Amino acid sequence: MPPSVHAFHHTSSPTDIVAQHPYLTFFFAALGLVSFGKFAAKAVGVLLQTFVLPGTNLKKYGAGKGSWAVVTGASEGIGREFALQLAKKGFNVLVSARNSAALDALVTEIETSCPPERKVQAKAFTMDFSQLSDEAQWGRLAAELEGLDIGVLVNNVGRSHRSPIYFAEAPADEVEDIVKINVNATVRVTRIVLSGMVGRKRGLILNMGSFSGTGVASPMLATYAGTKAFLSSWTASLAEEVSSSGVDVQCLNTYFVVSNMSKIRRSNITTPTPKVYVRSVLQKVGLSCGALWTGRPFVSTPFWSHAVIDYFMNLIGWKMFFIRYTHNLHKSIRKRYLRKLEREGKNK
Ligand SMILES: NC(=O)c1ccc[n+]([C@@H]2O[C@H](COP(=O)([O-])OP(=O)(O)OC[C@H]3O[C@@H](n4cnc5c(N)ncnc54)[C@H](OP(=O)(O)O)[C@@H]3O)[C@@H](O)[C@H]2O)c1
Repeated sequence: MPPSVHAFHHTSSPTDIVAQHPYLTFFFAALGLVSFGKFAAKAVGVLLQTFVLPGTNLKKYGAGKGSWAVVTGASEGIGREFALQLAKKGFNVLVSARNSAALDALVTEIETSCPPERKVQAKAFTMDFSQLSDEAQWGRLAAELEGLDIGVLVNNVGRSHRSPIYFAEAPADEVEDIVKINVNATVRVTRIVLSGMVGRKRGLILNMGSFSGTGVASPMLATYAGTKAFLSSWTASLAEEVSSSGVDVQCLNTYFVVSNMSKIRRSNITTPTPKVYVRSVLQKVGLSCGALWTGRPFVSTPFWSHAVIDYFMNLIGWKMFFIRYTHNLHKSIRKRYLRKLEREGKNK
Protein backbone atom coordinates (compact mmCIF):
# COMPACT_ATOMS: atom_id res chain seq x y z
CA MET A 1 0.00 0.00 0.00
CA PRO A 2 1.48 3.45 -0.94
CA PRO A 3 2.31 5.61 2.14
CA SER A 4 -0.30 8.29 1.36
CA VAL A 5 -3.18 5.75 1.31
CA HIS A 6 -1.85 4.26 4.55
CA ALA A 7 -1.87 7.69 6.22
CA PHE A 8 -5.43 8.34 5.02
CA HIS A 9 -6.71 5.17 6.68
CA HIS A 10 -5.22 6.22 10.03
CA THR A 11 -6.61 9.79 10.18
CA SER A 12 -8.22 10.30 13.60
CA SER A 13 -11.75 11.69 13.92
CA PRO A 14 -12.40 14.58 16.41
CA THR A 15 -13.94 12.08 18.85
CA ASP A 16 -10.77 9.98 18.68
CA ILE A 17 -8.64 13.05 19.41
CA VAL A 18 -10.81 13.95 22.42
CA ALA A 19 -10.58 10.35 23.70
CA GLN A 20 -6.82 10.21 23.18
CA HIS A 21 -6.06 13.63 24.78
CA PRO A 22 -8.54 14.19 27.60
CA TYR A 23 -6.40 16.73 29.52
CA LEU A 24 -5.64 18.81 26.44
CA THR A 25 -9.32 18.76 25.50
CA PHE A 26 -10.32 19.85 28.99
CA PHE A 27 -7.73 22.66 28.89
CA PHE A 28 -9.02 24.08 25.58
CA ALA A 29 -12.67 23.70 26.60
CA ALA A 30 -12.00 25.55 29.86
CA LEU A 31 -10.09 28.27 28.01
CA GLY A 32 -12.97 28.72 25.55
CA LEU A 33 -15.52 28.83 28.34
CA VAL A 34 -13.57 31.44 30.32
CA SER A 35 -13.08 33.61 27.19
CA PHE A 36 -16.75 33.40 26.28
CA GLY A 37 -17.76 34.03 29.90
CA LYS A 38 -15.59 37.15 30.03
CA PHE A 39 -17.01 38.39 26.72
CA ALA A 40 -20.62 37.74 27.80
CA ALA A 41 -20.17 39.30 31.26
CA LYS A 42 -18.61 42.41 29.73
CA ALA A 43 -21.33 42.77 27.08
CA VAL A 44 -24.08 42.40 29.70
CA GLY A 45 -22.29 44.81 32.08
CA VAL A 46 -21.88 47.48 29.39
CA LEU A 47 -25.51 47.12 28.28
CA LEU A 48 -26.83 47.29 31.85
CA GLN A 49 -24.74 50.31 32.82
CA THR A 50 -25.40 52.20 29.57
CA PHE A 51 -29.11 51.49 29.10
CA VAL A 52 -30.61 50.35 32.41
CA LEU A 53 -28.86 51.20 35.67
CA PRO A 54 -29.12 54.70 37.15
CA GLY A 55 -25.97 56.49 38.28
CA THR A 56 -25.28 57.93 41.74
CA ASN A 57 -27.96 60.31 43.01
CA LEU A 58 -26.51 63.83 43.01
CA LYS A 59 -27.92 64.40 46.52
CA LYS A 60 -24.81 62.52 47.66
CA TYR A 61 -22.83 65.62 46.60
CA GLY A 62 -25.22 68.14 48.16
CA ALA A 63 -27.85 68.76 45.46
CA GLY A 64 -30.71 70.77 46.95
CA LYS A 65 -28.80 71.40 50.20
CA GLY A 66 -27.11 74.70 49.38
CA SER A 67 -23.97 73.16 47.86
CA TRP A 68 -22.23 74.67 44.87
CA ALA A 69 -21.21 73.30 41.50
CA VAL A 70 -18.24 74.95 39.80
CA VAL A 71 -18.09 74.69 36.01
CA THR A 72 -15.09 75.94 34.05
CA GLY A 73 -15.43 76.94 30.40
CA ALA A 74 -19.14 77.53 30.91
CA SER A 75 -19.92 80.44 28.58
CA GLU A 76 -20.98 78.07 25.80
CA GLY A 77 -21.16 74.47 24.62
CA ILE A 78 -20.96 71.56 27.03
CA GLY A 79 -19.91 73.68 30.04
CA ARG A 80 -22.91 75.99 29.69
CA GLU A 81 -25.21 72.99 29.63
CA PHE A 82 -23.56 71.48 32.74
CA ALA A 83 -24.25 74.76 34.58
CA LEU A 84 -27.92 74.83 33.52
CA GLN A 85 -28.60 71.19 34.35
CA LEU A 86 -26.72 71.20 37.68
CA ALA A 87 -28.76 74.26 38.70
CA LYS A 88 -31.96 72.40 37.79
CA LYS A 89 -30.76 69.56 40.04
CA GLY A 90 -30.56 72.04 42.93
CA PHE A 91 -26.93 73.19 43.02
CA ASN A 92 -25.87 76.81 43.31
CA VAL A 93 -23.57 77.38 40.37
CA LEU A 94 -20.34 79.28 39.80
CA VAL A 95 -19.45 79.57 36.13
CA SER A 96 -16.18 80.70 34.63
CA ALA A 97 -14.78 81.61 31.18
CA ARG A 98 -13.50 84.72 29.36
CA ASN A 99 -16.72 86.02 27.83
CA SER A 100 -18.27 87.97 30.71
CA ALA A 101 -21.41 89.00 28.76
CA ALA A 102 -22.19 85.34 27.99
CA LEU A 103 -21.56 84.37 31.63
CA ASP A 104 -23.82 87.17 32.92
CA ALA A 105 -26.59 86.06 30.57
CA LEU A 106 -26.17 82.50 31.84
CA VAL A 107 -26.37 83.62 35.47
CA THR A 108 -29.61 85.50 34.73
CA GLU A 109 -31.03 82.50 32.87
CA ILE A 110 -30.24 80.18 35.80
CA GLU A 111 -31.68 82.51 38.41
CA THR A 112 -34.87 83.25 36.48
CA SER A 113 -35.56 79.77 35.18
CA CYS A 114 -35.49 77.95 38.52
CA PRO A 115 -38.86 77.63 40.25
CA PRO A 116 -39.16 79.69 43.50
CA GLU A 117 -39.33 76.56 45.68
CA ARG A 118 -35.99 75.40 44.25
CA LYS A 119 -34.27 78.77 44.06
CA VAL A 120 -30.53 78.57 43.47
CA GLN A 121 -27.80 81.20 43.35
CA ALA A 122 -25.48 81.68 40.41
CA LYS A 123 -22.19 83.59 40.11
CA ALA A 124 -19.97 84.42 37.17
CA PHE A 125 -16.21 84.58 37.42
CA THR A 126 -14.50 85.96 34.33
CA MET A 127 -10.98 84.73 33.78
CA ASP A 128 -8.55 83.52 31.13
CA PHE A 129 -7.31 80.04 32.03
CA SER A 130 -4.34 80.34 29.68
CA GLN A 131 -2.89 83.18 31.80
CA LEU A 132 -1.04 81.05 34.32
CA SER A 133 1.31 83.82 35.42
CA ASP A 134 -1.52 86.24 36.26
CA GLU A 135 -1.29 85.66 40.00
CA ALA A 136 -3.94 88.30 40.68
CA GLN A 137 -6.71 86.47 38.77
CA TRP A 138 -5.78 83.10 40.32
CA GLY A 139 -5.78 84.71 43.76
CA ARG A 140 -9.22 86.22 43.07
CA LEU A 141 -10.52 82.81 41.94
CA ALA A 142 -9.18 81.13 45.09
CA ALA A 143 -10.77 83.85 47.24
CA GLU A 144 -14.10 83.45 45.41
CA LEU A 145 -14.12 79.68 45.91
CA GLU A 146 -12.86 79.71 49.48
CA GLY A 147 -15.63 79.18 51.96
CA LEU A 148 -18.10 77.84 49.37
CA ASP A 149 -19.43 74.37 50.06
CA ILE A 150 -18.47 72.94 46.66
CA GLY A 151 -20.09 69.58 45.95
CA VAL A 152 -19.29 69.29 42.23
CA LEU A 153 -16.41 70.50 40.08
CA VAL A 154 -16.69 70.10 36.33
CA ASN A 155 -13.26 70.58 34.78
CA ASN A 156 -14.72 71.32 31.39
CA VAL A 157 -12.55 74.15 30.07
CA GLY A 158 -10.58 72.99 27.07
CA ARG A 159 -9.00 74.19 23.90
CA SER A 160 -8.19 72.27 20.75
CA HIS A 161 -6.33 73.09 17.53
CA ARG A 162 -8.18 75.49 15.20
CA SER A 163 -8.19 72.68 12.66
CA PRO A 164 -6.31 69.36 12.52
CA ILE A 165 -2.66 70.16 11.83
CA TYR A 166 0.68 68.34 11.96
CA PHE A 167 2.51 68.99 15.23
CA ALA A 168 5.57 70.36 13.41
CA GLU A 169 3.43 72.97 11.64
CA ALA A 170 1.19 74.00 14.54
CA PRO A 171 1.63 77.59 15.78
CA ALA A 172 3.64 77.67 19.02
CA ASP A 173 1.08 79.78 20.90
CA GLU A 174 -1.73 77.37 19.98
CA VAL A 175 0.25 74.35 21.22
CA GLU A 176 1.26 76.13 24.44
CA ASP A 177 -2.27 77.35 25.18
CA ILE A 178 -3.72 73.87 24.73
CA VAL A 179 -1.33 72.50 27.35
CA LYS A 180 -1.82 75.46 29.69
CA ILE A 181 -5.62 75.35 29.58
CA ASN A 182 -6.28 71.61 29.38
CA VAL A 183 -3.59 70.54 31.85
CA ASN A 184 -2.14 73.32 34.04
CA ALA A 185 -5.33 75.29 34.61
CA THR A 186 -7.34 72.13 35.30
CA VAL A 187 -4.77 70.97 37.85
CA ARG A 188 -4.75 74.41 39.52
CA VAL A 189 -8.53 74.69 39.82
CA THR A 190 -8.66 71.16 41.25
CA ARG A 191 -5.98 72.01 43.83
CA ILE A 192 -8.05 74.98 44.97
CA VAL A 193 -11.27 72.96 45.28
CA LEU A 194 -10.10 69.50 46.41
CA SER A 195 -9.00 70.18 50.00
CA GLY A 196 -12.46 71.55 50.88
CA MET A 197 -14.12 68.47 49.39
CA VAL A 198 -11.80 66.15 51.31
CA GLY A 199 -12.46 68.13 54.51
CA ARG A 200 -16.24 67.82 54.05
CA LYS A 201 -15.82 64.17 52.96
CA ARG A 202 -18.06 64.82 49.97
CA GLY A 203 -17.45 65.74 46.36
CA LEU A 204 -17.61 64.88 42.69
CA ILE A 205 -14.99 65.91 40.13
CA LEU A 206 -15.75 65.36 36.45
CA ASN A 207 -12.87 65.82 34.02
CA MET A 208 -13.78 66.33 30.37
CA GLY A 209 -11.80 63.70 28.51
CA SER A 210 -11.95 62.66 24.91
CA PHE A 211 -11.67 59.50 22.79
CA SER A 212 -8.39 60.99 21.55
CA GLY A 213 -6.90 60.69 25.04
CA THR A 214 -8.60 57.66 26.52
CA GLY A 215 -9.20 55.55 23.44
CA VAL A 216 -7.28 56.09 20.26
CA ALA A 217 -4.36 58.40 19.47
CA SER A 218 -5.25 61.31 17.22
CA PRO A 219 -2.75 62.26 14.49
CA MET A 220 -2.98 65.95 13.57
CA LEU A 221 -4.43 66.75 17.01
CA ALA A 222 -1.34 65.43 18.80
CA THR A 223 -1.07 68.03 21.56
CA TYR A 224 -4.80 68.05 22.27
CA ALA A 225 -4.84 64.23 22.43
CA GLY A 226 -1.81 64.27 24.73
CA THR A 227 -3.49 66.65 27.18
CA LYS A 228 -6.60 64.48 27.24
CA ALA A 229 -4.44 61.38 27.88
CA PHE A 230 -2.96 63.29 30.82
CA LEU A 231 -6.47 63.89 32.18
CA SER A 232 -7.33 60.21 31.93
CA SER A 233 -4.20 59.01 33.72
CA TRP A 234 -4.28 61.82 36.29
CA THR A 235 -7.96 61.11 37.02
CA ALA A 236 -7.30 57.43 37.75
CA SER A 237 -4.47 58.16 40.20
CA LEU A 238 -6.29 61.02 41.91
CA ALA A 239 -9.56 59.08 42.10
CA GLU A 240 -7.92 56.25 44.01
CA GLU A 241 -6.10 58.71 46.30
CA VAL A 242 -9.29 60.45 47.41
CA SER A 243 -11.90 57.68 47.19
CA SER A 244 -11.62 56.92 50.92
CA SER A 245 -12.31 60.62 51.62
CA GLY A 246 -15.74 60.46 49.99
CA VAL A 247 -14.62 62.28 46.83
CA ASP A 248 -15.43 60.67 43.47
CA VAL A 249 -13.36 61.55 40.40
CA GLN A 250 -14.21 60.48 36.85
CA CYS A 251 -12.83 61.16 33.39
CA LEU A 252 -15.58 61.51 30.78
CA ASN A 253 -14.65 59.73 27.60
CA THR A 254 -16.37 61.74 24.90
CA TYR A 255 -16.66 61.29 21.13
CA PHE A 256 -18.21 64.12 19.09
CA VAL A 257 -20.73 66.60 20.59
CA VAL A 258 -22.30 69.52 18.68
CA SER A 259 -20.28 72.63 19.60
CA ASN A 260 -18.01 75.39 18.37
CA MET A 261 -15.00 73.24 19.17
CA SER A 262 -16.17 70.21 17.17
CA LYS A 263 -17.46 72.57 14.43
CA ILE A 264 -20.41 70.19 14.07
CA ARG A 265 -23.66 72.14 13.92
CA ARG A 266 -26.27 69.38 13.64
CA SER A 267 -26.75 66.44 15.95
CA ASN A 268 -26.88 62.89 14.68
CA ILE A 269 -26.79 59.42 16.18
CA THR A 270 -23.12 59.67 17.22
CA THR A 271 -23.05 63.44 17.85
CA PRO A 272 -25.53 64.58 20.49
CA THR A 273 -26.32 68.19 21.39
CA PRO A 274 -24.67 69.41 24.62
CA LYS A 275 -28.09 69.16 26.31
CA VAL A 276 -28.54 65.48 25.49
CA TYR A 277 -24.89 64.69 26.21
CA VAL A 278 -24.85 66.38 29.65
CA ARG A 279 -28.15 64.73 30.60
CA SER A 280 -26.55 61.33 29.96
CA VAL A 281 -23.49 62.27 32.04
CA LEU A 282 -25.57 63.34 35.03
CA GLN A 283 -27.73 60.21 34.80
CA LYS A 284 -24.69 57.91 34.83
CA VAL A 285 -22.41 59.37 37.49
CA GLY A 286 -20.27 56.66 39.07
CA LEU A 287 -20.80 54.13 36.25
CA SER A 288 -18.28 53.26 33.54
CA CYS A 289 -20.83 52.42 30.79
CA GLY A 290 -18.90 51.84 27.52
CA ALA A 291 -15.52 51.91 29.30
CA LEU A 292 -16.42 49.08 31.68
CA TRP A 293 -13.64 46.51 32.21
CA THR A 294 -11.41 47.91 29.49
CA GLY A 295 -8.40 48.52 31.72
CA ARG A 296 -9.32 52.18 32.22
CA PRO A 297 -10.57 52.52 35.78
CA PHE A 298 -12.41 55.78 36.61
CA VAL A 299 -13.07 56.46 32.91
CA SER A 300 -16.71 56.60 31.88
CA THR A 301 -18.28 56.66 28.41
CA PRO A 302 -21.81 57.64 29.39
CA PHE A 303 -23.56 58.71 26.17
CA TRP A 304 -25.14 55.58 24.67
CA SER A 305 -23.76 55.66 21.12
CA HIS A 306 -20.30 56.71 22.35
CA ALA A 307 -20.51 53.75 24.77
CA VAL A 308 -21.34 51.35 21.94
CA ILE A 309 -18.47 52.69 19.80
CA ASP A 310 -16.08 52.47 22.76
CA TYR A 311 -17.19 48.90 23.47
CA PHE A 312 -16.66 47.74 19.88
CA MET A 313 -13.34 49.57 19.51
CA ASN A 314 -12.06 47.70 22.54
CA LEU A 315 -13.56 44.42 21.36
CA ILE A 316 -11.84 44.74 17.97
CA GLY A 317 -8.71 46.05 19.67
CA TRP A 318 -6.92 46.85 16.41
CA LYS A 319 -5.76 50.35 17.46
CA MET A 320 -3.61 50.96 14.38
CA PHE A 321 -6.69 50.66 12.17
CA PHE A 322 -8.48 53.41 14.14
CA ILE A 323 -5.37 55.62 14.23
CA ARG A 324 -5.04 55.43 10.41
CA TYR A 325 -8.76 56.11 10.02
CA THR A 326 -8.48 59.19 12.27
CA HIS A 327 -5.38 60.38 10.42
CA ASN A 328 -7.16 60.19 7.05
CA LEU A 329 -10.26 61.86 8.48
CA HIS A 330 -8.16 64.73 9.85
CA LYS A 331 -6.30 65.11 6.53
CA SER A 332 -9.59 65.64 4.74
CA ILE A 333 -10.92 68.03 7.43
CA ARG A 334 -7.68 70.04 7.11
CA LYS A 335 -8.06 70.21 3.31
CA ARG A 336 -11.63 71.49 3.61
CA TYR A 337 -10.55 74.02 6.26
CA LEU A 338 -7.77 75.40 4.02
CA ARG A 339 -10.16 75.64 1.04
CA LYS A 340 -12.65 77.55 3.23
CA LEU A 341 -9.91 79.97 4.37
CA GLU A 342 -8.88 80.46 0.75
CA ARG A 343 -12.47 81.25 -0.27
CA GLU A 344 -12.71 83.77 2.57
CA GLY A 345 -9.30 85.24 1.70
CA LYS A 346 -7.89 84.54 5.18
CA ASN A 347 -4.46 83.28 6.28
CA LYS A 348 -3.91 79.78 7.77
N1 LIG B 1 -17.34 69.03 21.40
C1 LIG B 1 -16.76 67.84 21.31
O1 LIG B 1 -16.95 67.11 20.31
C2 LIG B 1 -15.86 67.35 22.41
C3 LIG B 1 -15.40 66.03 22.36
C4 LIG B 1 -14.57 65.56 23.37
C5 LIG B 1 -14.24 66.39 24.42
N2 LIG B 1 -14.68 67.67 24.44
C6 LIG B 1 -14.24 68.53 25.57
O2 LIG B 1 -15.37 69.16 26.15
C7 LIG B 1 -14.96 70.41 26.72
C8 LIG B 1 -15.92 71.51 26.25
O3 LIG B 1 -15.84 71.58 24.85
P1 LIG B 1 -16.96 72.27 23.94
O4 LIG B 1 -17.10 71.40 22.77
O5 LIG B 1 -18.15 72.63 24.74
O6 LIG B 1 -16.16 73.57 23.50
P2 LIG B 1 -16.60 75.08 23.25
O7 LIG B 1 -18.02 75.15 22.82
O8 LIG B 1 -15.55 75.64 22.39
O9 LIG B 1 -16.52 75.73 24.71
C9 LIG B 1 -15.28 75.92 25.34
C10 LIG B 1 -15.50 76.73 26.59
O10 LIG B 1 -14.22 76.97 27.19
C11 LIG B 1 -14.04 78.36 27.38
N3 LIG B 1 -12.64 78.72 27.20
C12 LIG B 1 -11.87 78.46 26.13
N4 LIG B 1 -10.64 78.98 26.32
C13 LIG B 1 -10.65 79.58 27.53
C14 LIG B 1 -9.71 80.32 28.27
N5 LIG B 1 -8.48 80.55 27.80
N6 LIG B 1 -10.05 80.79 29.48
C15 LIG B 1 -11.29 80.59 29.96
N7 LIG B 1 -12.25 79.91 29.31
C16 LIG B 1 -11.93 79.41 28.10
C17 LIG B 1 -14.93 79.02 26.34
O11 LIG B 1 -15.38 80.30 26.77
P3 LIG B 1 -14.73 81.72 26.40
O12 LIG B 1 -14.46 81.71 24.96
O13 LIG B 1 -15.80 82.67 26.84
O14 LIG B 1 -13.52 81.84 27.25
C18 LIG B 1 -16.12 78.06 26.32
O15 LIG B 1 -17.02 78.40 27.36
C19 LIG B 1 -13.51 70.61 26.31
O16 LIG B 1 -12.68 70.24 27.36
C20 LIG B 1 -13.34 69.67 25.15
O17 LIG B 1 -12.00 69.25 25.00
C21 LIG B 1 -15.48 68.18 23.47
